[in-house]
Amino acid sequence: MTATLASAAQKLDRNGYLDIEVDPELDLVTEIKRLKKEKNAIILAHYYQESEIQDVADFIGDSLGLSQKAAATDADIIVFAGVHFMAETAKMLSPNKKVLLPDLKAGCSLADSCPPHLFRKFREKYPDHIVVSYINCTAELKTLTDICCTSTNAVAVIESIPKDKPIIFAPDKNLGAYLIKKTGRDMVLWNGACMVHEIFSQERIVKLKNRHPNAKFIAHPECEAPILEMADYIGSTTGLLKYTINDSAQEYIVATEAGILHQMQLASPHKTFIPAPPENNCACNECPHMKRNTMEKLYLCMEYEMPEIILPQWVIEQGVKSIDRMMEISEKAGLGLKG
Ligand code: 13P
Ligand code: SF4
Repeated sequence: MTATLASAAQKLDRNGYLDIEVDPELDLVTEIKRLKKEKNAIILAHYYQESEIQDVADFIGDSLGLSQKAAATDADIIVFAGVHFMAETAKMLSPNKKVLLPDLKAGCSLADSCPPHLFRKFREKYPDHIVVSYINCTAELKTLTDICCTSTNAVAVIESIPKDKPIIFAPDKNLGAYLIKKTGRDMVLWNGACMVHEIFSQERIVKLKNRHPNAKFIAHPECEAPILEMADYIGSTTGLLKYTINDSAQEYIVATEAGILHQMQLASPHKTFIPAPPENNCACNECPHMKRNTMEKLYLCMEYEMPEIILPQWVIEQGVKSIDRMMEISEKAGLGLKG
C-alpha cells in the first residue's frame, strides 16, 4: 500500500470514498475501460447517475433490471454506480463476488426513513400481516420483509398475495398510496418518502404544461398523489423511458430524477424532454445521493477495489429470501430484463 493510499483509506470511513487526488490529465474513460477488462469487472449504473457514468457502464437500468443483472453476471467484481441499498442488494444476490460502491455515503432518503429497530416494533402491531418492502430500504429491513418489490413489479407483487391476507407496505407512503389505488388492496403504510420525488411543484408544472400544451406529463410513482393525478403516464424509470420511445408525442415533461433524461434523449434524439420543476428555484430535481458518485470516484474504486460492500452473513441469508420471492414473481410475470 502506498502512503497516499494508506492515508486515503483512513479517510474512507469519514468521507465514504477514497480521497486520492486524480491526475486531471488522466483519460478516465480509457482508464475505467482498461480496469474493467483487467479485473473482469462489470459496471452497473442506475438511470439517475450522471451521463458520463451511464456512458461508461456495461448496463444501465432500473432497480429490478440492475438486481437481475447483478444476480446473473459472471464478472468477478460488480461496480455499482448507484446508491447503497442497490449495492447491498447486489451483494445479497451475489455474495461471493466483490461489490464496490464508489461512495459509501451515496444513501437514500427513503431507506433512511425506515430504521429497522422502529420498523420491527411497528410490525409487531400487525402480526398477521405480510410485509412488502420497496427495494429502496436497508439490507437489515429486508430481513424483516416477506417480499421486496420495485416500481416495475410492485403491482404484480401485491396481486400475488391472497386477497384475504392483510399487507404492510414500507417504506414509501406515496408508492403505497398509488398501489392501493391501482390494486384496490387496503394496506398499512409506513410513513416514508423520497426527498427527490416529494418536492415537485404542482403550480410550476401547471405553468409549464400551459407553455407546452402538446407535451405529455409523465411521472414516477414515488411522486405525491396530486402530481400523479395530473400524469398521462405513471411508471418506473424503465417504464417512463419505454413510454417516451413508443408514444407518438414529441414533447414530455418528466417528473422523476433528471438523470433519466439522458437515455430518453439518446433513444429519441428528435423529441424534447423537459424536467418537471421542484418547489424551489431549480430547473430540475437531482438526487444528492446518486450524484455523490463521480467519474473520479468510479475510477479510484476500481483501481483500489474499495470501498467494498460487506454484509453480515445472517443479513445476507435472511434478507435475500425477500429478494428471491420478488425475483420469482417478476420472472412469472415476465417483468424486467426479459419483459
Ligand atoms: P426505479 O428505477 O426502479 O424506477 O427506481 C427509482 C428510484 O428512485 C431509485 O432510487
Ligand atoms: Fe432514494 Fe429518492 Fe435518491 Fe432514489 S431518488 S436514491 S429513492 S433519495
